[in-house]
Amino acid sequence: MDDNQKKNIEFYDQKYQFLDAEVNGILKRLNKLDVFLADATSTDTSWVGLYQDNFQKKIVGKKVLELGCGDCANAAIMAALGAEVYANDISSKSGEIITKVNELYKFTQPIVFIEGDFLTADFKEKEFDYVVGKAFLHHLTHNIERKFFSKICELLAPTGESRFFEPAVNSRILDEIRWHIPVPGRPSKFSAKAFKLWKANDPHPERDNSSSHFRNLGLKYFRDVKIINLGTLERFHRLLPTSFNKRSFRKKAFVWEKKTSVHIK
Ligand SMILES: C[S@@+](CC[C@H](N)C(=O)[O-])C[C@H]1O[C@@H](n2cnc3c(N)ncnc32)[C@H](O)[C@@H]1O
Repeated sequence: MDDNQKKNIEFYDQKYQFLDAEVNGILKRLNKLDVFLADATSTDTSWVGLYQDNFQKKIVGKKVLELGCGDCANAAIMAALGAEVYANDISSKSGEIITKVNELYKFTQPIVFIEGDFLTADFKEKEFDYVVGKAFLHHLTHNIERKFFSKICELLAPTGESRFFEPAVNSRILDEIRWHIPVPGRPSKFSAKAFKLWKANDPHPERDNSSSHFRNLGLKYFRDVKIINLGTLERFHRLLPTSFNKRSFRKKAFVWEKKTSVHIK
């Protein structure tokens, strides 16, 4: 296991430590599944991204593997929608969340948690219709990411599809500006000492996260690759004052973006 993987375990074991709060949050969403999905898939970038192109309907009755399932909200939603869900994460906290959610919500098929690092995980089940990840790949070094893709190809059915939603960095200038604007939980680069301290515990490796990187990676392993850029306008909600209705702005931003095709490619 490399240092980056160790950092991810440490960071996410801590982030998901409040088991009851995580489980309650999931149950709330499951109990209002339609309302939650309609809102999230039109407002929250990662949900808008992953649920593109009728994903919600496509996974019904399908065997889906989610990598880096994290807080397990998406794994639970997919299971409630009627998919046969297998979920994997390097943090054992995700497994604890799934055990509890399986106990408290009557899925037609309980979620199966596959413990630990995906590359060394033992998959008895193969032939997945979908292998998906939400905000996940950018946590891997490029070297490990290639090994992941190789293994995904082994596990996917011949007609299978893999989809990932990732925060892409397609403009170095905008990215540099972003690091200088502090956001909750992350200091600005102008505060050099605090930034260095934050960086030492950050579970994101330094790597290329451009759309072209993901396209070239996909083309090495898959027949067809489709890159959908989205969220350029939505991102600006971070600059709005807290008094502003940010969710309303974000929802509108996706509508404007669709109409005007404002994307940084
Ligand atoms: C940004 S979180 C995303 C969580 C969730 N998918 C979401 O959308 O909220 C990234 C997740 O990837 C997991 N992860 C990082 N490296 C991993 C690896 N090598 N194998 C499996 N999971 C990993 C982390 O533990 C964390 O839960």
